[in-house]
Amino acid sequence: MSIKTKTVELKKRMQSATQGGGEKAIEKQVKMGKMTARERIVSLLDPNSFHEYDLFVEHAARDFNMDKKHLPGDGVITGTGTISGYPVCIYAQDFTVAGGSLGLMHAKKITKIMDHAMKLKIPIIGINDSGGARIQEGVNSLAGYGEIFYRNTQASGVIPQISVILGPCAGGAVYSPALTDFVFVVDKISKMFITGPEVIKSVLGEEISMEELGGAKVHSEITGNSHFYSESEEECFDQIKKLFTYIPWNNSKKAEAFPKKAPKSKMYNIDKIIPSNPRQPYDVRDVIKSISDDSDFLEIQENFAANMVIGFGRLNGQTVGFVANQPLVLAGVLDVDSSDKAARFIRFCDSFNIPLVTLVDLPGYLPGVDQEHAGVIRHGAKVLYSYSEATVPKITVILRKAYGGGYIAMCSRHLRADFVFAWPTAEIAVMGPEGAANIIFRKEIAEAKNPEETRKRKINEYKRKFANPYVAAANGYVDAVIEPSETRKFVMHALEISSQKDEVAPKKKHGVPPF
Ligand code: HXC
Repeated sequence: MSIKTKTVELKKRMQSATQGGGEKAIEKQVKMGKMTARERIVSLLDPNSFHEYDLFVEHAARDFNMDKKHLPGDGVITGTGTISGYPVCIYAQDFTVAGGSLGLMHAKKITKIMDHAMKLKIPIIGINDSGGARIQEGVNSLAGYGEIFYRNTQASGVIPQISVILGPCAGGAVYSPALTDFVFVVDKISKMFITGPEVIKSVLGEEISMEELGGAKVHSEITGNSHFYSESEEECFDQIKKLFTYIPWNNSKKAEAFPKKAPKSKMYNIDKIIPSNPRQPYDVRDVIKSISDDSDFLEIQENFAANMVIGFGRLNGQTVGFVANQPLVLAGVLDVDSSDKAARFIRFCDSFNIPLVTLVDLPGYLPGVDQEHAGVIRHGAKVLYSYSEATVPKITVILRKAYGGGYIAMCSRHLRADFVFAWPTAEIAVMGPEGAANIIFRKEIAEAKNPEETRKRKINEYKRKFANPYVAAANGYVDAVIEPSETRKFVMHALEISSQKDEVAPKKKHGVPPF
């Protein structure tokens, strides 16, 4: 056979292998507003950069008539490519082929590309659109998932792992994403659950739609399982591209540096953000934007535990991770969800050499039976643990309230912040003046001729003495009390001189965080 004939045969085989689950299944996919797996890869990666491997892999299952079924690519597409020149390994499950379900060979394709990513030290992106373990392949599909989970765990903190949920994902198809760094969901398209509505109905007799059980909004607002929410697949891919501008290829590199750009001072005037009445809220994102390069900020988990704001920005062209209390929501308290949210992000930044800038304004941990019973002790401790453990440069700015455990937890000097700055509006104390005066002057107030007047006087006395940054500054817990307008200058300088920071953690196999 001539090369020409063999090439024709190759093309024929390729055509058959890339057809997905056939016209009808593709039509169903398109009707649901979904791209095909192949279109997704093309749309996410740089033009012509995708190189596919293992196109001709076939499943080897024999039971339940599987020997009669041809599943192109065994329902998953794998390969390498680039995003704005940044190299990545990628896989996309094809729902049109047996519901994207994971059989043994499907799993082997995924684990092979994950192994490549680890060896090449580049990120792995998984586009998940799968009914989970392929039922017909029994324990082999479970084995496949086990192999993926093991690799997700080994890769954690070594290379960035991105999961995109673009279809109904069940069982293992959501546990692998849960082990990765960032999960992207799209409204009306993404569904995530361990067991679907059918199982819930048969076991518990409860009826619920896929959307109500595990739709994109549920995971963005209630469970916190997702990190980025969008309205369409295109918007989701733009978010991924943006994320890649902030993170490094692997844990031995720094994120790419960009040219330094001044913040948009006309839009964000730092001197005017905090209201003069300390009880009034403000949007802490305005503070972030008033100090970050070009006022740029990529917020993560925007609609989950919104009392805590996390995300990436740049200072002096270099990526930083912002962690900030949000006075607009629940006065910025720490609670179960906001603690989880912050702690995980801190660990991501620490793993990938991204300095942390913490902005503090909170009355403390949220009191209440619900929180206590939901385990606020354990969850809140995650913040203490992750800040204490982090060895990247840690810069803290206390904007206003820093009371009690909240003061300590939000990257205080005591958890080894490298630099702690405070605005003149900072109030650093065990608790707010009202609460404090009521407790320590209770007797005096009760016995006074005019208790209300005495209470006010005592509150003011306490405010003058403790509700300021100067006691902490006098003890060296705060390095400098600075004007708000000096924040960018101080933080940038602190980051610059911390660039060679090389803190060595005590030798151990690993710690035991309060998971
Ligand atoms: C084999 C599957 C499949 C699976 C879907 N299909 N899931 N085949 N194994 N797990 C097939 C269907 O038979 C169908 O094939 C095609 O994919 C499309 O599925 P539909 O049901 O028609 O689609 P839809 O109505 O959109 O529903 C999607 C779905 C549902 C919600 C994902 O299919 C479903 O509930 N699947 C089962 C989910 C599940 O329980 N998986 C096992 C999880 S256990 P045809 O030929 O008709 O087109 C697991 C173990 C790991 O993953 C756990 C780790 C901790």
